[in-house]
Amino acid sequence: MMKSVVYINGDGIGIEVMRATRALVDTVTKEGIEWIEAKAGENCFLTTGNPLPPETLELIREHKVAIKGPTTTPSGGGFTSVNVRLRQELDLYVGLRPSWSLGLPNTRRNVNLTVFRQNTEGLYACKEEVKGPSGSREVLLTARFSEEAMYRLALKAFHYARAQGLTHMTLVNKENIHKVWGRVYHDAFDQVAASFPDITADHMLVDAMGMRLVSQPEKYQVLVIENMFGDILSDVCAGLVGGLGVTPGANLGEDIALFEAVHGSAPDIAGRGIANPTALMLSAAMMLDHMGLVLESKRMKRAIIHTLKNNKCRTGDLGGKLNTIQFTSAIMENL
Ligand code: NAI
Repeated sequence: MMKSVVYINGDGIGIEVMRATRALVDTVTKEGIEWIEAKAGENCFLTTGNPLPPETLELIREHKVAIKGPTTTPSGGGFTSVNVRLRQELDLYVGLRPSWSLGLPNTRRNVNLTVFRQNTEGLYACKEEVKGPSGSREVLLTARFSEEAMYRLALKAFHYARAQGLTHMTLVNKENIHKVWGRVYHDAFDQVAASFPDITADHMLVDAMGMRLVSQPEKYQVLVIENMFGDILSDVCAGLVGGLGVTPGANLGEDIALFEAVHGSAPDIAGRGIANPTALMLSAAMMLDHMGLVLESKRMKRAIIHTLKNNKCRTGDLGGKLNTIQFTSAIMENL
């Protein structure tokens, strides 16, 4: 039976990398995918006045699986991030971001790191209020940190680790400074860890973790992290293995999954046809796996990795000369 997927082009390079990704998925899947377009992001805001129309949320709730291009978030004002809203409204509490060594030049070898980022609360999703007289503004933040959020995130992370044959988990926290929520997250993580005796677990302060990721990334396997810390450290992980152009991601809830690359809308290269579609394609491979199309997922991932190994077959961000379409054709030839 044909499976359906909701797709959102998003902004900037979104349309270019989504077109390439859909073409590859269509080539790989025998029965094909029924693609259902939904709108979100800055372009959607400019045309409809709403960056995240209710129809988009309804389509995702109905079809359960979605893939999204990056969406622009205006800085210093304007509408609330579509990503934050999607994750909160659909309760996509897990931000799953794997980074593994692809053998690219000037990158780290033997890295196999997966970030499990808390996706719906914490510093990244806090409320900001400006207080104080004009001329002397103060900003107050209200952030939520719950035992339940860390408990269910850690549960997903430990199950993932076991399924992948991974043996070590690290909770990344800042509990020497944020003693209260740091402790809440620590205890919830430890409670889950106690039910997985086959997996070792430890805790790291986020600043030390930043340093360790640069000096000894191969020593870590799965990082369970607060929302804002996870946003930052998952980009560090991406940088170790080839950058934002190659790092995939997924936002997972209990029964809804939304796949997207870690990178943003890249306004500096948008519309030039030179974006690297690898990150979204690898996100799509994760999506096929999630949908039970395991062989198709493996075949697609293998072809992408094989293509990247050829130094004549890379996009500009990886020092190559191919544009998005040429790179996609090279992958299709390698399927
Ligand atoms: P960005 O990830 O868009 O770009 C950072 C740098 O990486 C740029 O030099 C860009 O050209 C390059 N880059 C990113 N993806 C690439 C790709 N696939 N191929 C080749 N080069 C690539 O981050 P930036 O500039 O901080 O953010 C731009 C916009 O994207 C902002 O509005 C931001 O809020 C939004 N954003 C959206 C995300 C999402 O929808 N998931 C995630 C991150 C940022």
